[in-house]
Amino acid sequence: MESKKLLSSTSIPMIGLGTWLQDEETKCISAIKDAFKIGYTHIDTADIYKNHIYIAKAIAHKNRKDLFITTKLWIDFLDPKNVESEVDKCLMQLNLDYLDLYLIHWPDRTKPIIDVYYEMTRLKEKGKIKATGVSNYTINHIQDLLDQKLVPEVNQVEFHPYLYQKDLLDFCNRHSIAITAYCPIAREKVFEDKELIAIGKKYNKSPSQVSLNWIISKDIIVIPKASSINHLKEDFDIFNFNLSAEDIKIIDEIHYKRGSRLINPEFADFEY
Ligand SMILES: NC(=O)c1ccc[n+]([C@@H]2O[C@H](COP(=O)([O-])OP(=O)(O)OC[C@H]3O[C@@H](n4cnc5c(N)ncnc54)[C@H](OP(=O)(O)O)[C@@H]3O)[C@@H](O)[C@H]2O)c1
Repeated sequence: MESKKLLSSTSIPMIGLGTWLQDEETKCISAIKDAFKIGYTHIDTADIYKNHIYIAKAIAHKNRKDLFITTKLWIDFLDPKNVESEVDKCLMQLNLDYLDLYLIHWPDRTKPIIDVYYEMTRLKEKGKIKATGVSNYTINHIQDLLDQKLVPEVNQVEFHPYLYQKDLLDFCNRHSIAITAYCPIAREKVFEDKELIAIGKKYNKSPSQVSLNWIISKDIIVIPKASSINHLKEDFDIFNFNLSAEDIKIIDEIHYKRGSRLINPEFADFEY
């Protein structure tokens, strides 16, 4: 499995299984068990997805060192006083004794985020978390952390051909912050895209495989969510071809021609 080293030296697998909306017990467990058979080892979840206890059942038979589990601190708990109890809650629900990666799910500049991040760092030193990071952070949100000498190891953001966040990617690369791409197949929108379909035909790959390969070609981690065995297999089968520089350029331009953001809740702070 291809992986990337984070600042803490923790290795994160380049593909993980997304589990948003995977909140029905049987379906969630079956998707994860099927994913393990294919070779997935990395699961992306969050407190708010309400599926930790199902994930615990799906991973119970696995060797801990063969797993990479990411979860996230929800906005309601952005206070340093809550962080350790929230981490302990996740550990108990997932039946784990450490998290591979713990992220602040969304920024909120009205909350004491810096102190929250310090507390996450303390829990890393305590061994409850291996790596720490953020999600949905803009350059300015990250800069606020950097100003306090806090460097998130990962920024998990929406990233796909319709939302090519090039400035954010360049900024994160300059600071050795890994990007994880959520909605990496734009919630199936890629299947209707004539340019992605045409590029896929050249490599005998589907538009979703083209989108995922375009993202990993930029050294970005992908976490597609898939439920059926066929989708899981297709999404995993992306490491055996290289898009040409010309095709990468065509995909880079899609954002400027017909870009769109899919996830924009009322509490998002993307203008900062
Ligand atoms: N940090 C954040 O704020 C945030 C926000 C959004 C998402 N995320 C994370 O990112 C993950 C991925 O994002 P997402 O779930 O929103 O979108 P996505 O991965 O872009 O798309 C998921 C959809 O694509 C379908 N699909 C997957 N593989 C397919 C294939 N090969 N062929 C056809 N359809 C396919 C899935 O269907 P089936 O389920 O039927 O297979 C599902 O409906 C989430 O699950 C979550 O873990 C994080």
